[in-house]
Amino acid sequence: MPGANTIVIMGASGDLTKRKLLPALFQLACKHRLPENFRIVGFARSEYSDDAFRELMWDGVRELGELAVRRDDWSAFAKSLSYVQGDLAIPEDCAKLGEALAAIESGTASANRLFYLSIAPQLYGPAIEQIGAAGLAKQNGGWRRVVVEKPFGRDLKSAQALNHTLQRHFDETQVFRIDHYLGKETVQNLLVFRFANTIFEPVWNRNYVDNVQITVAEQVDVGDRAGYYDGSGVVRDMVQNHLIQLLTMVAMEPPSASSEESLRTQKVEVLKAIRRWSPEEAVRHAVRGQYRGYLEGNGVAPGSTTATYAAIRLFVDNWRWHGVPFYLRTGKAMAEKISEVIVQFKAPPLVTFSLGPGAELASNVLALRLQPDEGIHLRFEAKVPDEEFRLQPVDMEFHYDSAFTDQAIPEAYERLLQDALEGKARLFIRNDHNEEAWRIVDPLLEGWEASDDSPLHLYERNSWGPAAADAFLAEDGRQWLKGGTH
Ligand code: BG6
Repeated sequence: MPGANTIVIMGASGDLTKRKLLPALFQLACKHRLPENFRIVGFARSEYSDDAFRELMWDGVRELGELAVRRDDWSAFAKSLSYVQGDLAIPEDCAKLGEALAAIESGTASANRLFYLSIAPQLYGPAIEQIGAAGLAKQNGGWRRVVVEKPFGRDLKSAQALNHTLQRHFDETQVFRIDHYLGKETVQNLLVFRFANTIFEPVWNRNYVDNVQITVAEQVDVGDRAGYYDGSGVVRDMVQNHLIQLLTMVAMEPPSASSEESLRTQKVEVLKAIRRWSPEEAVRHAVRGQYRGYLEGNGVAPGSTTATYAAIRLFVDNWRWHGVPFYLRTGKAMAEKISEVIVQFKAPPLVTFSLGPGAELASNVLALRLQPDEGIHLRFEAKVPDEEFRLQPVDMEFHYDSAFTDQAIPEAYERLLQDALEGKARLFIRNDHNEEAWRIVDPLLEGWEASDDSPLHLYERNSWGPAAADAFLAEDGRQWLKGGTH
């Protein structure tokens, strides 16, 4: 019998498992990308039989439309699913999980185990302790790995404490801290765009770039997630991880070809170069907002000042980027769902055409659209035909759906789960990266908590955030840009 490969999902009855993890694992199975002899074991407090758990998971998978037609494939796949009821805070229940795993793996040459913590963040520490105490982390024959969802900590101190807990039972090579943005095709394409082409690199620096804008706008509001969100807010939920990841991919130096770790190391170098603010300075370089109606949401504390929108100015103090502002903005209940990176280039030094009264040259803009309508636009000036010198910005564009008509863009979790199973860590967060990211946002969080002169601006739903965020860029003589769509 070949070795067993068991994926243990802690918190298997939750939303993430049903909406993201199982669909991704099912897709991987359909693409024959899961290891031989794999099993998926769900562990959670709710009572389910194996069959009831399979049905629950099918409900999630089926909602994704395109997978709904694969009922026959699902029936075969579902045989690999089983469920163990238990509370991870209770040692006997973890022992029961251990027995179930031993039974599943019995008779196999060796057993690899991937533990996926799909549980509330405050349970990460206790779960890791219990996995360790029950002896489930011991590598006897096969490997043991643990995937930890974001948020990893709620500030630097708690992140370090959580890491110490992890280190008691796992070493860093066994820990896979996930940020699903890194699994997105378009985010990985940032690396290809920069490092598999030569034409952009010469202008990718402070000599040519005026500013960089990173926007992750969401139309959804907090919905039924207030229990988690109200205690976290937009900076912990989105900025410390997703937006800062994007920033590192845009700003990093080329990784070396010979070292697996180089990509992660280069990203950490960017974080170390980000200018550190005191809490008082940090609040002056940011705007916070809350959408109207947030306070009426289920589970929101009365009078909560949790921010659902943030706009932040950062500087990367190295030779490449010195003086170039990086503007980050993200929010819930906004006008559109758009994630994009905009690189605005400097205006030409001299206008040599007579443009006519009031006309100005627009500077070149490169828009890397991460989602939806994934693609890249490069905006430049063109002469309007048959007019003496009237100029108009035009777009050169690439879109995934027209360039790759046969390939659908996979869900981020597919790539990440496959990589974790194969032990490839480059798209996961190293501990030093996570800590540096907290060092960047902690002063802002602290400043917002303490400060009376950093107002929480209310903004309308379906808007582009508070007017104060526009004024914030106007202070620098700039405005928020939106890249191209089809
Ligand atoms: C999650 C956040 O990490 O990312 C959510 O917790 C957010 O609040 C989500 O909605 C956004 O992910 P995506 O892939 O839809 O951009």
